[in-house]
Amino acid sequence: MRVIVCETYEELSVTAAKMVASQLLLKPDSVLGLATGSTPEGMYAELARMYERGEVDFSEATTFNLDEYYPISPDNDQSYHYFMQKHLFERVNLRPGHIHLPNGAAADVKAECAHYDQMIEDAGGIDLQILGIGHNGHIGFNEPAGELNDCTHLTSLTEDTIQSNARFFANEEEVPRQAITVGMATILTARKIILLVSGRNKSEPLRRLLTGKISTAVPATMLNLHRDTVIITDRAANDGR
Ligand code: GLP
Repeated sequence: MRVIVCETYEELSVTAAKMVASQLLLKPDSVLGLATGSTPEGMYAELARMYERGEVDFSEATTFNLDEYYPISPDNDQSYHYFMQKHLFERVNLRPGHIHLPNGAAADVKAECAHYDQMIEDAGGIDLQILGIGHNGHIGFNEPAGELNDCTHLTSLTEDTIQSNARFFANEEEVPRQAITVGMATILTARKIILLVSGRNKSEPLRRLLTGKISTAVPATMLNLHRDTVIITDRAANDGR
């Protein structure tokens, strides 16, 4: 696994954005797997700047986001739909019909999950998957557990994640207790993965990942099963491990 250590979060963001742009240069109709959370915000901002400068073109790309809270309406400003619109979709030339996120307002969640997996398969799978990491080692909303699901599924958030994500909501009670997430098997079938790790509070899951041992108790360690993962980290995360 290749680890790129950047001096700052800004450098991490620019490095990641350049890789996404390179992917689109090599394969304009790439299928991109996208992540939310505060870590990729800088990368999305840089991609928007690159788009303004004519340095990246999303016109033929397709995107699939990793996860969405459940239940939540897409126009709720805490939804991942809203996050993606604000940080990327309304700032670049992605075609609306090519953008996919799990529907947090679906009445039939099981059908929604199966449909989401089918759409990823029909698109030919993910070419480049962007990931963040939870400080408990979660990936998407694949939380630490004795067993993990392979495909897209409804999951319950751990107390740890509810507390950590409460910073985005008015208070902890408002954080949805469940989410729809793409499963680890789908993530691991992505042709290339870029994992973004920033900040001192990510040092521990990064350390666990880099031991090379694999455990569902730290879902990020399953990336050791993948053949082409690049970790982009900043000094704060890397030096603390
Ligand atoms: C969230 C998301 C993950 C994200 C992680 C870290 O709950 N479901 O996809 O990677 O937590 O978020 P942050 O980058 O804000 O630390």
